[in-house]
Amino acid sequence: MMLKSLKILLISILLGLCSEVYAGDENTDDFAVDEELLKLKGDPEYGEYLSGDCTACHQIDGSYNGIPSIVGWDEESFIWVMHEYKEKYREHPVMQMMAGRLANDEIAALAAYFATLE
Ligand code: HEC
Repeated sequence: MMLKSLKILLISILLGLCSEVYAGDENTDDFAVDEELLKLKGDPEYGEYLSGDCTACHQIDGSYNGIPSIVGWDEESFIWVMHEYKEKYREHPVMQMMAGRLANDEIAALAAYFATLE
């Protein structure tokens, strides 16, 4: 008797956990970047220093070589997109990894630097 109710308890806990994970997935539908992160003012010189990792793929002159241009974006859009990759809301393994390694102030610095380029 005891055992049986224990089993039922365990099963209901497990079910509860599963539905929580599922709810978590659903939440990504209304992805949003914190206002504070969007307003972060990055240091463009630090961004330039970090940009070496990016310009191996993204053309610094803004031309398209199969990889989209990232120069001349407004800073908020840039920060937004980088957080979409970082939070894995936007699919793309390489960019998810690149963004995942960056701290919030590094993302802001890159946004500030690339915004100065045309
Ligand atoms: C190995 C190559 C590679 C590297 C290195 C790389 N990227 Fe990307 N990046 C891509 C590709 C490919 C895409 C397009 C992915 C997609 O379709 O979502 C992309 C997309 C982007 C976008 C969105 C562009 C758009 O038009 O939506 C931004 C912003 C971006 N990268 C920033 C960066 C930054 C900042 C770095 C350096 C920290 C970086 N990338 C490093 C290949 C790279």
